Amino acid sequence: MARISTFLVVLLLLLLCFWTPIAESTTEYVTYKDPKAPIGARVRSLMKMMTLPEKIGQLIQAERGQVNADIVKQYFIGSVLSSGGSAPRPEASPKDWVDMINGFQNGSLSTRLGIPMLYASDAVHGHNNAYNATIFPHNVGLGVTRDPDLVKRIGVATALEARATGVGYVFAPCIAVCRDPRWGKCYESYSEDAEIVRMMTEIIPGLQGDVPNTTRKGVPFVNKKDNKVVACAKHFVGDGGTFEGIDGNNTVISNQDLFRIHVPAYWDSIYKGVSTIMVSFSSLNGVKMHANYHMVTRYLKQRVKFRGFVITDFQGIDKITPIPGENYTYSVQEALLAGIDMIMIGYNNYIDFINITTKLVEQNVVPMSRIDDAVQRILRVKFTMGLFENPLANYNLADKVGCKEHRELAREAVRKSLVLLRNGKGGETLLPLHKNAPKILVAGTHADNLGYQCGGWTIDWQGRSGNDLTVGTTILQAIRATVDSSTDVTYEENPTDDFVKSGNFTYAVVVVGERPYAEYMGDSNNLFIPAPGPDTIINVCENVKCVVILVSGRPLVIGPYIATADAFVAAWLPGTEGQGVADVLFGDYGFTGKLARTWFRRVDQLPMNIGDPHYDALFPIGYGLTTNSTSQ
Ligand SMILES: *[C@@H]1O[C@H](CO)[C@@H](O)[C@H](O)[C@H]1NC(C)=O
Ligand SMILES: *[C@@H]1O[C@H](CO)[C@@H](O)[C@H](O)[C@H]1NC(C)=O
Ligand SMILES: *[C@@H]1O[C@H](CO)[C@@H](O)[C@H](O)[C@H]1NC(C)=O
Ligand SMILES: *[C@@H]1O[C@H](CO)[C@@H](O)[C@H](O)[C@H]1NC(C)=O
Ligand SMILES: *[C@@H]1O[C@H](CO)[C@@H](O)[C@H](O)[C@H]1NC(C)=O
Ligand SMILES: *[C@@H]1O[C@H](CO)[C@@H](O)[C@H](O)[C@H]1NC(C)=O
Ligand SMILES: *[C@@H]1O[C@H](CO)[C@@H](O)[C@H](O)[C@H]1NC(C)=O
Ligand SMILES: *[C@@H]1O[C@H](CO)[C@@H](O)[C@H](O)[C@H]1NC(C)=O
Repeated sequence: MARISTFLVVLLLLLLCFWTPIAESTTEYVTYKDPKAPIGARVRSLMKMMTLPEKIGQLIQAERGQVNADIVKQYFIGSVLSSGGSAPRPEASPKDWVDMINGFQNGSLSTRLGIPMLYASDAVHGHNNAYNATIFPHNVGLGVTRDPDLVKRIGVATALEARATGVGYVFAPCIAVCRDPRWGKCYESYSEDAEIVRMMTEIIPGLQGDVPNTTRKGVPFVNKKDNKVVACAKHFVGDGGTFEGIDGNNTVISNQDLFRIHVPAYWDSIYKGVSTIMVSFSSLNGVKMHANYHMVTRYLKQRVKFRGFVITDFQGIDKITPIPGENYTYSVQEALLAGIDMIMIGYNNYIDFINITTKLVEQNVVPMSRIDDAVQRILRVKFTMGLFENPLANYNLADKVGCKEHRELAREAVRKSLVLLRNGKGGETLLPLHKNAPKILVAGTHADNLGYQCGGWTIDWQGRSGNDLTVGTTILQAIRATVDSSTDVTYEENPTDDFVKSGNFTYAVVVVGERPYAEYMGDSNNLFIPAPGPDTIINVCENVKCVVILVSGRPLVIGPYIATADAFVAAWLPGTEGQGVADVLFGDYGFTGKLARTWFRRVDQLPMNIGDPHYDALFPIGYGLTTNSTSQ
């Protein structure tokens, strides 16, 4: 008897040993894990297996500083982001980024269903949270180029640099149509003209890959074989049309103007396969966009048939209430009911969000079908981009971050983004400058400041001053590298009258402008050139032939100074490749840029855009003098 039972036990154990692998390989086929299964089937298969907590987790995008692998695992968090300036450590290497992101991913992969999280970062002019990344001109300069192919190539480069650090999702492009330069985010806009913004949506196939003609319009597309990233058209909709350019304020507009000015670039973006759309902090005719059912669900999802996912701006739902965060339950409820899919909860408590959402679903305030719609859209993007097959990043692309080819591309973009507003007095031109002048003066706060020339959204959210910000070339360094070796380049940040008079300079280059800012911190109602810029212009230009280079996120008040200068260049926010400025200044290339914004005369004219009855510009949109290359 004992023998028989021992025999049976052994038999049973043997059976168990062999049973499991047999069972796994024959009966446990799971559609969602099969890379060859159609995406729709994979989504449905996975959705059927998911519990409510697993679904709610997918809706969350938490800030990296708030979570770790265990939290990501425990709460099934679907996405983690680096908000402006949020990096694994100061001067983090690509390896530091990859390790951090893979750490979070390990958390996700060790959950029951192993749904990978999607790591996101702002990358609005190159991969700008990453040290040593190539920083391209901000959009305000790119609009000037009217060169969609260039912008597409910038998208390709940005995607590659993001991928090199393990980032799979970038919050770009901003397709705002900025109608008032008092807005601090105006530099994130390509133009006041919807047609120019539409043209620049070519960055989307650069970031995500070209949509195959077999893909249905409205369906998100990311080429998984080619180091592409998920893109995000933002900020839906009317962000650039707020009252007096106040960030996040109310856009009061007729339907006709809304669909003529602010909506069309979304059609192009969706046509080009954009995977996600971010809603705007602002209101549209008094309705907060984060709670706008009509525009998000009825228009974007039902009418236009956008099938990617809709995401909030950073803690955007908090601002649905008059006092931000006043009633988080109300915020969550309104955002979900409006049709928003992923909630960038930022620094908010993910547990609060989970508890609130759970309760709203249990009470049937938010129907389960709404949660399912959101999860299904998020999973579709994750499957499309191949995240289930390749959830972990590696170090293979590390040397692409800030590589020579990308810096050359940025330099090309800088050359094409400069607008020459004035060249010479009394029929005599100053530009291109001679490389062989015996002695020249370079002056101004922005001549030798990498941080200033990059602007906001560079390493730090608000950007910052200094040449140690990241790796790049300042305008002064570029001038020094361009002139003849015999030329004496004197640099004096704020020279006095006497200094200039007694210097015996052949000519001077004055570089002044705005200090870095982002979002509401950059709202301005006077649009002055900050001190001491005006004094520097006057001290220099009244005493020697000079070219003024204005580094700014938008047109500023220049009427009082432009006649003093012999030449005047709008350089916008060129980024790390200051050499592009010298290339054109000294005639290795010609000036070609045309204003993509109206240069107003006085602030009291604003808002004033092309087509307005009161249009009376200092320089109209489309303006820009040209020079020829002297090296041809
Ligand atoms: C992720 O997990 C794997 C295996 O469990 C481990 O080898 C690897 O070091 C982990 N990576 C990170 C970045 O934590
Ligand atoms: C779709 O694209 C392929 C490859 O680029 C091309 O051969 C084919 O003609 C296109 N089909 C249509 C309907 O445009
Ligand atoms: C717009 O700005 C005004 C003035 O600061 C403020 O009173 C109002 O509440 C703002 N509106 C919105 C929707 O933010
Ligand atoms: C917060 O909003 C919820 C949902 O609309 C509502 O039921 C609740 O009464 C609000 N709480 C307060 C304190 O106003
Ligand atoms: C969330 O809900 C759980 C379960 O109902 C509860 O135990 C927990 O205290 C709640 N947490 C917070 C932060 O409200
Ligand atoms: C920046 O990146 C380039 C290209 O990968 C690399 O050669 C260089 O060493 C990096 N510089 C710093 C300071 O990390
Ligand atoms: C000023 O510069 C010119 C041209 O280089 C030179 O001929 C002249 O001697 C200089 N004058 C003084 C006072 O240095
Ligand atoms: C540039 O070159 C073209 C053709 O040689 C000439 O017609 C034009 O006047 C030149 N423009 C300037 C600004 O020198």
